[in-house]
Amino acid sequence: MLRAKLWTGALLAVVLASCGSGSNLHADVTLIRDPGSVAAGAVLFEANCALCHAPDLTGGTTPSGERAPSLANKTGSSDASLTETAKRGRGLGMPSFEDQLEEAEIASIIDFIRSVQTDGHEE
Ligand code: HEC
Repeated sequence: MLRAKLWTGALLAVVLASCGSGSNLHADVTLIRDPGSVAAGAVLFEANCALCHAPDLTGGTTPSGERAPSLANKTGSSDASLTETAKRGRGLGMPSFEDQLEEAEIASIIDFIRSVQTDGHEE
């Protein structure tokens, strides 16, 4: 009985330690992306997002003077949460793209963002 408890504790410690080390890197970042989707996403990003977030994702200033954050380092966000922000918009400066872009187009934009993020990443 006591032995079983010790084991559970040890296992928990290992799990917690492994969570801590890669804490800023969501599992989605390392998924292999379809190159065709990445290429399509690059064009869509340029047309819809680069005005504020810059073509290389490093962020910038919106036409109304707000700070658009870098997306290059958003490696801790899941695909789902990036998609959600693109669809719904955020705050005053980030528009909603739900009516402008198809679901598949937003997915391609996320694929493109991941490809840029992993470019600067040593695996
Ligand atoms: C008109 C300027 C503008 C455009 C165009 C724009 N954004 Fe944004 N975006 C912003 C601003 C400003 C914020 C910060 C909003 C806040 O937190 O209040 C933001 C925030 C975000 C965030 C959240 C980042 C974080 O800190 O978690 C994501 C993700 C994002 N934008 C993705 C996109 C994508 C994808 C597109 C294109 C489909 C896009 N944005 C187009 C201005 C823009």
